[in-house]
Amino acid sequence: MKNRILKVFAQKGILVDPDALDALTKAPDAMKCVNHILDDPDRPLILTKDDVENYLTCQPKARPKARAEEPKTEPPAADLMPGEVKVVKDITGGSTCVGNVIDFAKLFNDRYLTLRKLLQKRRELSGLVSISKAKKVQRDVRFVGIVNDARETKNGHTMLELEDEDDKVQVLLMKGVKRSADYYINDEVLGVVGSFSRDGDIVVAKEIIHPDVPVNSGMTPNGSRSVLAFVSDIHVGSTEFLSEGWNRFVSWLNKDPAAEEIRYILMPGDLVDGIGIYPGQEDELLIEDIYDQYQELAKLVSNIPKRIKIIMMPGNHDAVRLAEPQPALPKEVESMFDPGTIFVGNPCYLEIEGRSVLAYHGRSMDDFVGNVRNLSHSRPEEIMKEMLRRRHMAPIYGERTALAPEQKDYLVIDKVPDIFVTGHVHVCSIGEYRGIKLINASAWQSQTGYQRMHNQIPDPCKVPMIDLGSGKMWVEDFSS
Ligand SMILES: [Fe+2]
Repeated sequence: MKNRILKVFAQKGILVDPDALDALTKAPDAMKCVNHILDDPDRPLILTKDDVENYLTCQPKARPKARAEEPKTEPPAADLMPGEVKVVKDITGGSTCVGNVIDFAKLFNDRYLTLRKLLQKRRELSGLVSISKAKKVQRDVRFVGIVNDARETKNGHTMLELEDEDDKVQVLLMKGVKRSADYYINDEVLGVVGSFSRDGDIVVAKEIIHPDVPVNSGMTPNGSRSVLAFVSDIHVGSTEFLSEGWNRFVSWLNKDPAAEEIRYILMPGDLVDGIGIYPGQEDELLIEDIYDQYQELAKLVSNIPKRIKIIMMPGNHDAVRLAEPQPALPKEVESMFDPGTIFVGNPCYLEIEGRSVLAYHGRSMDDFVGNVRNLSHSRPEEIMKEMLRRRHMAPIYGERTALAPEQKDYLVIDKVPDIFVTGHVHVCSIGEYRGIKLINASAWQSQTGYQRMHNQIPDPCKVPMIDLGSGKMWVEDFSS
């Protein structure tokens, strides 16, 4: 049996740890488990005992074929040549999850530890301790926790339950206490400065600190003469796809001298309309096969001038797993496009001509709008600021945004980007927060029945752009 298992894995280029092999041979149905591992596009390259235990407790879903390479986590290069795009961080090929409870614990632990490291650098939190140590100290405590629960009391105070690696505590935040955000949401990570109440049960906070991004002066000129344009939510295959606006844009790219400096187009998700995404979508589909939708997209994109590098990212309508982080499109889709096209995961950190770009499709915007007062789909730049304040793109677990239980939290904003781009809400907006350029990249689809029902008004056929040399942003309008 052992030799048979080793042979099967060797044929697929997977190394098997001796303890993993023992665990497999002792399993009630070893070959069934082996097949589950082989069917998993995100299977590990080296199979450990922990992996085997995970596969035995949870059956992975069949997903589109993904690339079996190492995750892209190379350090950024400062002196990139024009035309060069470096993928700095992306889940593609690096997924380790099989979806059990242990994996979710690892995901939240990684989130907590990464954000605690950032908070540790804050002067207000110097000397921070764990919650269990804080309980012994009682006075003038400083600690970091992940929010389990946040609620407002009848008197307008806020009560938070915070948890760290081995303990939890209730924190009372009185009205008027210094706070770094107006609202608290589940699963975000916060720093607390305070002291315990007389009975020692509750921490009364003096200050609440979000990880946030540091204030900086923004993109200082770097001599680049290239322009990066953003084209999101194309939704090819939908009856509402705006082909006339798209043709105006492509013809402008080909003919207008003003377009000559555009060297890159980044497409942050919803490249096609997909199938079975929302109730009644079938009535609004012009192309009913998702692969035919990508074929049509490939045809449309082939008219973009060859001097422009195209970077494609999936969104919640595309043919990859829905749970974030999403890997790049499967090989059979990639092969439909020009070989120079760059395919990345969602989210993704890129380095383009010395500028750090964070791209995220933006599914979690629905959860931010549902949980934070005064946020709306029509002002995505305000939602992006909330993400940066929390140094997390999708903190809320268990609502609209499905999260994959990876061992590492790819949605943490661990590096401060120069440019942060999203899509998803079909609105075009540009803004700035603490020196970071914020862009939400419109759409190429008019209002769908689903959007009408939810009173979402798109602002399609706009192309936001940024001059990579100066940081200047503007929008070109192709809607008429
Ligand atoms: Fe979309």
